[in-house]
Amino acid sequence: MTTAPIGRLRSYARLIRQGMQALFSLLRWVGRVDGTLDWGVTVDLTGDCRLEIAEGSRVRRGTVISLRHSANESATLVVGRNTSIGQYNNFRSVGAAIEIGDDCLISQFGSFIATGHGYARKDTLIGDQPIPEAKGIRIGSDVWIGTNVTIMPGVTIGDGAVVGAGSVVTKDVAPYATVVGAPARKVSERT
Ligand SMILES: CC(C)(COP(=O)(O)OP(=O)(O)OC[C@H]1O[C@@H](n2cnc3c(N)ncnc32)[C@H](O)[C@@H]1OP(=O)(O)O)[C@@H](O)C(=O)NCCC(=O)NCCS
Repeated sequence: MTTAPIGRLRSYARLIRQGMQALFSLLRWVGRVDGTLDWGVTVDLTGDCRLEIAEGSRVRRGTVISLRHSANESATLVVGRNTSIGQYNNFRSVGAAIEIGDDCLISQFGSFIATGHGYARKDTLIGDQPIPEAKGIRIGSDVWIGTNVTIMPGVTIGDGAVVGAGSVVTKDVAPYATVVGAPARKVSERT
């Protein structure tokens, strides 16, 4: 047999493997999405992951949900009821939980980053360093996140809080506080 048919066989094998992986990922989360995932939402699940979108919630097109288990922990995105997630948001977790409550308004182009890279050593490529302990993100209910916001690992945003457009949230936000800027600072609170 010449090398060309062997290459073709390898390509077929790779396609079948990728297809099986996609099918297993799909089987893992089908049935847990009671809300709506619009056409054009990318769901990229690797290993032990959980995706739950409760009834009345909707994730709009262009949003990417990328969850990957770590050595010890599964990765989850759990969205409560009647929450709206706008276009082109970015949810990323390796081995951590991202939790969003009920009745939230998540605008567009936000990044919800539950994990980062280890980078302490200069003699090792960042991509080869262990991923630090996952911290996750918790967002309460009735929260409004403006457009273009980044939520960093470990952050908890209390019920009723508002996050201004373009903010980078590095620390916890108290319930009903309005925060703006990078890093986000409290400017007012709901009464
Ligand atoms: C956070 C927000 C709700 C605050 O609105 P507000 O209560 O009317 O607040 P103000 O406009 O009076 O601003 C209060 C202060 O915060 C500052 N500020 C307001 N929004 C800011 C933002 N996104 N980034 C940085 N600073 C901001 C203002 O400059 C002002 O500062 P000053 O007191 O030094 O002058 C609003 O500015 C915002 O960002 N909305 C999000 C809009 C959006 O993303 N929509 C997406 C479609 S749903």
